[in-house]
Amino acid sequence: MEHVTKKAVYIIFLMIITGVLSAREEYRARDFSNLVGKVKGLDAELLNLHFTLYQGYVKHSNALSSSLEEMRANGEDQTNVYGALLRRFSWEYDGMRLHELYFENMGGVNALGAKEALYKKIEKDFGSFEAWRQNFAATGLIRGIGWVILYQDPIHGELRNIWVEEHNINHIPGANPILVMDVWEHAYLTEFGLDRAKYIETFMKNINWSVASERFLKPHINERVH
Ligand SMILES: [Fe+2]
Repeated sequence: MEHVTKKAVYIIFLMIITGVLSAREEYRARDFSNLVGKVKGLDAELLNLHFTLYQGYVKHSNALSSSLEEMRANGEDQTNVYGALLRRFSWEYDGMRLHELYFENMGGVNALGAKEALYKKIEKDFGSFEAWRQNFAATGLIRGIGWVILYQDPIHGELRNIWVEEHNINHIPGANPILVMDVWEHAYLTEFGLDRAKYIETFMKNINWSVASERFLKPHINERVH
């Protein structure tokens, strides 16, 4: 009997080591429907279409995560298929997270106050708030599909407007995303046609600066700022 118990413990140990028993929580799509009617200039049709697209990223992130886990457990993580799926996972996962950050930082009604820490930091790093605003909008007009992110460098604390290609290229490792703007065509085409500049202007009038300021003040970033 003791022999059987030891064997069972050994098998369970092996299963844990090889990942057979690992269980990851599924990503769940968040509900951003409260933005409908709250973002002046973006209609319900456009926003609802965008929520549906976002849900697709969540679904595909989960499906890829499961496939990768299964392949890892089966010792297939040195195959070309695993490599291809892992690359794809980063695209889907970043698409999911960036949409969450984007929806989160919309729907604001108040401008960023000149006395706010984030405002002062933007002034310091860009010369003036207006200079930052113009550069953020101009970055959004770069030809291609992607995102504009006001990132805070994790080591120096400096702010930069970064162009992210598609979802997963050009990120600053470990940086804090303060403000995220989607400039994929699906974010504006149905309402603005090809007038991306008009969409960007609309987005910038609807920034939720409370959310952006909260991200900026995250202690785990500021502790490392020098
Ligand atoms: Fe999008």
